Amino acid sequence: MNLDKLTYAGNLQNLKDVADHPNYTFVKADICDYSTVLKTLQFHNIDIIVHFAAQSHVDRSVFLKKFHKLEPTITELFEMSLPEDFIINNVWGTHILLECATQAWKDSNFEGKRFHYVSTDEVFGALALNDPKKFNEETRYNPRSPYAASKASADHLVRSYFTSFQLPITISNTSNNYGPYMYPEKLLPLTITNLLEGKKVPIYGDGKYVRDWLFVDDHCAGIELILTKGKVGETYCIGGQTEDMSNLELIQKVLNLMGKDEKTNLEYVKDRPGHDRRYAVDWTKANRELGYEPKHDLDSNLKDMVEWYKNNTWWWEPIKSGEFKEYYKKQYEDR
Ligand code: TYD
Repeated sequence: MNLDKLTYAGNLQNLKDVADHPNYTFVKADICDYSTVLKTLQFHNIDIIVHFAAQSHVDRSVFLKKFHKLEPTITELFEMSLPEDFIINNVWGTHILLECATQAWKDSNFEGKRFHYVSTDEVFGALALNDPKKFNEETRYNPRSPYAASKASADHLVRSYFTSFQLPITISNTSNNYGPYMYPEKLLPLTITNLLEGKKVPIYGDGKYVRDWLFVDDHCAGIELILTKGKVGETYCIGGQTEDMSNLELIQKVLNLMGKDEKTNLEYVKDRPGHDRRYAVDWTKANRELGYEPKHDLDSNLKDMVEWYKNNTWWWEPIKSGEFKEYYKKQYEDR
């Protein structure tokens, strides 16, 4: 059962391979819509919820609102965006899902039920370069963007439903995902598609920002392990295999794979405000308790990812020529 509002980054084409499967159903709905969510849970006897639904792009959460209007044009809407979207979808939406799950499941005493919340390592804030520290389940929360703050708020709400109502929850705090079907606002798909279009890759600041790259299939395997072996009420950090790789090093790999040089294909642009310097995730607990281990190797996955974008222009070209154009202009050209 896939429940999705299909906002700008939602795309049913991503699931075309399973769309006709007898075990698959799609419901177009908003997680903030209490009545539809509750009816869906009850009508379809849902016993496990994996809550991925979120506004997730930091850059969109840090656009400064210039003005308010009651009936804005599309361009004005982007001017107005949009920390509110993050608060509404990520905090209020999570609250509604938690309420609905509690209502739908309380008479069964939550037997065989699970509410898994997919969160992010960004709730922990930023680490310094050359610091041996990594984020783990004990790290103090210190979110630094409206996006991260909205996810942190939702983490706390999810935990509170465990202590207050015994809702059987688990949480995963996950590092930067990558893979096919990734909306081109994020660094890797933006890099690959820009290079395919003959455009430069925009590098924020000095490019020496560090992320922990996790292939999407490893992330999904981690979630499945949490659902099958994880302990209710617990949080698990799910990270990847890259150790302190800077954005520049990562993009260099993509340039090499695509036979492009750094000099003519990179463009240094104004930094993201409050840009978190480094993320690194310690997944020891998930390894020890669940046997989690990322299996996929960055180099071969990047190669596959580049091939995928080369062979699937039908998927990303319409995206880049639609709503995305306004976003790109605002984000990069008027920076
Ligand atoms: P992003 O994919 O937005 O993920 P997150 O901010 O959630 O980690 O960005 C990954 C890194 O790449 C981050 O350090 C910001 C940087 N970045 C650029 O340098 N240029 C870009 O155009 C984008 C989108 C990101």
